Amino acid sequence: MSDAVSAAWQVLQALPKPTLKDLFADPARLAAWSTRLDLPGGAVRFDWSKMHLDAAHGTAFVQLAEAAGFAERRGAMFGGEPINQTEGRAVEHTALRGVGRETSVEEAHALHLRMKSLVDAIHAGLLGEVKHLIHIGIGGSALGPALAIDALARDEAKVQVHVVSNIDGCALEAAFRACDPATTLIAVASKTFTTTETMTNARSALDWLATNGVADPYGRVVALTAYPDKAVEWGVDETRVLPFGESVGGRYSLWSSIGFPVALALGWEEFAEFLEGAAAMDRHFLEAQGLANLPLRAAFADLYYTRLRQCQTRACFAYDERLRLLPSYLQQLEMESNGKSVKLDGTPADGPTAPITWGGVGTDAQHAVFQLLHQGTNLVPVDFIAAIIPGDSLDPAHHHNLLANCFAQGAALMAGKEAKDPARAYPGDRPSATILCEDLNPATLGALIAFHEHRTFAAGVLMQINSFDQFGVELGKEIAKAILSGGTVFDASTEALLAEAGIK
Ligand code: F6P
Repeated sequence: MSDAVSAAWQVLQALPKPTLKDLFADPARLAAWSTRLDLPGGAVRFDWSKMHLDAAHGTAFVQLAEAAGFAERRGAMFGGEPINQTEGRAVEHTALRGVGRETSVEEAHALHLRMKSLVDAIHAGLLGEVKHLIHIGIGGSALGPALAIDALARDEAKVQVHVVSNIDGCALEAAFRACDPATTLIAVASKTFTTTETMTNARSALDWLATNGVADPYGRVVALTAYPDKAVEWGVDETRVLPFGESVGGRYSLWSSIGFPVALALGWEEFAEFLEGAAAMDRHFLEAQGLANLPLRAAFADLYYTRLRQCQTRACFAYDERLRLLPSYLQQLEMESNGKSVKLDGTPADGPTAPITWGGVGTDAQHAVFQLLHQGTNLVPVDFIAAIIPGDSLDPAHHHNLLANCFAQGAALMAGKEAKDPARAYPGDRPSATILCEDLNPATLGALIAFHEHRTFAAGVLMQINSFDQFGVELGKEIAKAILSGGTVFDASTEALLAEAGIK
């Protein structure tokens, strides 16, 4: 740890820890920590006032950011420098939103035009009648499309998309049951075009088309990949291969051709709005200084709870059914990016890194897991996310109730309640942040996702780790391959399980 970084941490550790009640004694509290940002899809409020940071923490965290070289590293990311140093790659997902190094923005634009042509051609019927798309991908090649389509294409999808990720054949069979092979396209989405789950599912999807009367199964396949040669070699015609750049990480790839199913379901115009919403957040992240920078402010709070209050988890509850897949999207984004034990220079991390991200949807979660948030022994910082304009057209009582519950949870966690019977007492002083969108639409969702991307990156910079590699996923894959190819003897437990399942 550099002297400046270590000095900033020492300041942070020495600061008093006021309660939320103490902090709210300041009449300026709300104005200082709750900010309304005007964005293309409508305003979004980022209320971090019910988090334990005060002005002194703010100043000390800004010093930490300076000591950790935050502005330089942010500039290097947007400038297309190879900041993913373990893999020798730049990190250029923002170029797909039109923000970044000029040449990369131009290249991304050209790739989008190619993608748009195919989307428009399918909508125009040039590939025959297309009612369904089975989108096959996993991790970053599935979670983003699944989230965006579930959030935005509920009632009027132009094409019904079925996202299949698991190698468990039950997942693919469910999609087969919902589709007619004669009117179904298959998207094979894989940055590397080598992932076992995806390639196995893709092969089975081809077989399904062939055995159900489709004369040219490969003619029904679109490939979305950073390695177009591999897709062509596998059998997809070059005209239906939509490439993207190697400098776009898997969990940051929704903006690239991996977003093809989103554009197909919504139409290009809405996909362009989605990109524009994210671009507005990029510009905010690039330009806003210090605590006014909302993703950076959120990263400060994240580090405060993991490193200064020893919180091992953080939770996100969407009070909006349309965002029910957001927690699982954030799990990959945050845990794969920042679940690391070493710093950029290879030395051990200075403290805990990513907390475990978990969450769910309100109000369902209130009746299942909120007991622990209110009275359990773990301190869990919580994000609530909601939209003012309802997504439904039922009696407004539904939406009013939903929002009332969302705000009630934040208030209850903070206020707590005394009671004679200890079992009925609530300790209170429990932190939450609220993100309140005027509306949930393509632009707002784009901005929300970009906010979380930048929050994750900023936390990584403050912890001096590389948020863009994921070597931790490799060992398990290697062992699975070794099991299937035979010849290796494993530990007694693994050997016994393999024998019992008839695999060995
Ligand atoms: O194994 C993890 C991972 O590499 C993720 O980072 C990635 O999003 C996912 O697998 C899928 O990879 P691909 O898009 O190359 O199939």
